Amino acid sequence: MSFRKIASWLLLGSTLATASVATTGSHTDKITPKVFIVSMFEPEAQAWWHIREFDLLAHNITVPGLSPLYPDVHCTEDYEICQLITGESEINAATTVTSVAFSPLFNLTQTYFFIAGIAGVNPERATLGSATFARYAVQVALQYEIDIRELPSSYSTGYIPLGADYPNQYPTNIYGTEVFEVNAELRRIAVGLARHGNLSDSAAAKAYRAHYATPSGRYKAATLGPSIVECDVATSDVYYSGDILGNTFDNTTKLLTNGTGEYCASAQEDNATLEALLRSSTRNLTDFSRIIVMRTASDFDRPYPGSSTTYNLLYADAGGFEPALANIYNAGIHVVQGIIKGWKTTFAEGVEARNYVGDIFGTLGGQPDFGPGRTAALADSGAFKKRSLSPRLRRRS
Ligand SMILES: *[C@@H]1O[C@H](CO)[C@@H](O)[C@H](O)[C@H]1NC(C)=O
Ligand SMILES: *[C@@H]1O[C@H](CO)[C@@H](O)[C@H](O)[C@H]1NC(C)=O
Ligand SMILES: *[C@@H]1O[C@H](CO)[C@@H](O)[C@H](O)[C@H]1NC(C)=O
Ligand SMILES: *[C@@H]1O[C@H](CO)[C@@H](O)[C@H](O)[C@H]1NC(C)=O
Ligand SMILES: *[C@@H]1O[C@H](CO)[C@@H](O)[C@H](O)[C@H]1NC(C)=O
Ligand SMILES: *[C@@H]1O[C@H](CO)[C@@H](O)[C@H](O)[C@H]1NC(C)=O
Ligand SMILES: *[C@@H]1O[C@H](CO)[C@@H](O)[C@H](O)[C@H]1NC(C)=O
Repeated sequence: MSFRKIASWLLLGSTLATASVATTGSHTDKITPKVFIVSMFEPEAQAWWHIREFDLLAHNITVPGLSPLYPDVHCTEDYEICQLITGESEINAATTVTSVAFSPLFNLTQTYFFIAGIAGVNPERATLGSATFARYAVQVALQYEIDIRELPSSYSTGYIPLGADYPNQYPTNIYGTEVFEVNAELRRIAVGLARHGNLSDSAAAKAYRAHYATPSGRYKAATLGPSIVECDVATSDVYYSGDILGNTFDNTTKLLTNGTGEYCASAQEDNATLEALLRSSTRNLTDFSRIIVMRTASDFDRPYPGSSTTYNLLYADAGGFEPALANIYNAGIHVVQGIIKGWKTTFAEGVEARNYVGDIFGTLGGQPDFGPGRTAALADSGAFKKRSLSPRLRRRS
């Protein structure tokens, strides 16, 4: 799931998916979709159902390893467009995407993976209903954590990078999933396509946004209407809220992307999805340069000036949930159709990445433009030598 209001979902009266009879029909070849839509939970999935452009419910294919809640992959009649539903949070995303990416049912070598979910949004960079497209996905909570009440007052946050002594120090213990970078040229094209969509808004969102107007203009982005924004996504199982954690993870994004990343969306899956796709890409089962990460904003990650964080997280009706879901379709449909229509001219062959794509280890080749470089990152992961020198690293191994 993304950072969204569970209560709003319940109010929508959503029902859990009932597994339907799986069928691959008489289709004997591998399923070779052009686009695979990645949804995280049912409301995001439903944004693509019962639309006039295509019918994703023409085939329901049960794939071993998928979530008990969402056991089926859905595909159109011609199998050109498919959809998987990861289930919410990092463990579900990693397991589901791994199961699909390594499934013998599919040939995904040319498939575009389109992550399309809702998210919390940083009011410094975007607003309710906006659709954000990421170049970096950062696993921001992959850190030490001490409750702030047990820290000396010199600490600005309880999050301390792994292997570091203080917040905002570069981690010396690298796990490999801290940062993923996707194809910036493909993002540019996807953003151009998405801008053809008319984004929805709601009266409640309009009213709520206005609270973010301040004389300093710090949250100007929050006060504007929904738009398409290029900025980056944070992944954390912990559904956080507030100024301090928002700033903490803004800083973490900057730190881990060496100053390039701009944190704007908070969600619970993308780095897990990307790690699974990275591993399948090293086996040439998928192509890591064919990934688009879109998150539409359903709520703010921190309160407006003068209100409280508990209010922001638990009680505020920001009115962003419905437009965020609607805008998955409003923006995303142009991306999907653009890929299908431009298949022969552009997308079959692929959009060449001009930036580094991949993880902090350089697993897919090339030199990451973030992190300490392949050799140091592998050394800091303990891949080259035992961690016996540092008691801190031994603790969790
Ligand atoms: C696929 O599953 C959906 C519900 O998840 C259902 O509405 C649809 O009819 C099913 N399609 C087929 C072909 O059985
Ligand atoms: C997968 O699909 C691509 C593109 O359609 C094709 O070139 C390739 O031969 C297929 N591979 C397998 C194993 O079916
Ligand atoms: C998570 O993925 C994003 C790309 O969507 C990347 O920018 C970020 O660095 C990744 N974070 C981690 C911790 O892997
Ligand atoms: C968006 O709205 C404009 C103006 O109302 C309209 O001309 C256009 O057709 C709409 N586009 C889509 C994709 O619905
Ligand atoms: C984020 O970084 C800025 C600039 O280094 C620093 O002033 C601020 O205290 C940091 N915020 C947190 C919560 O660590
Ligand atoms: C993947 O494809 C590349 C380029 O064609 C090739 O060099 C590499 O050996 C392949 N890897 C695997 C695991 O098949
Ligand atoms: C990123 O920042 C770290 C820590 O400051 C530094 O060691 C590393 O060389 C930088 N990497 C790149 C690619 O600039």
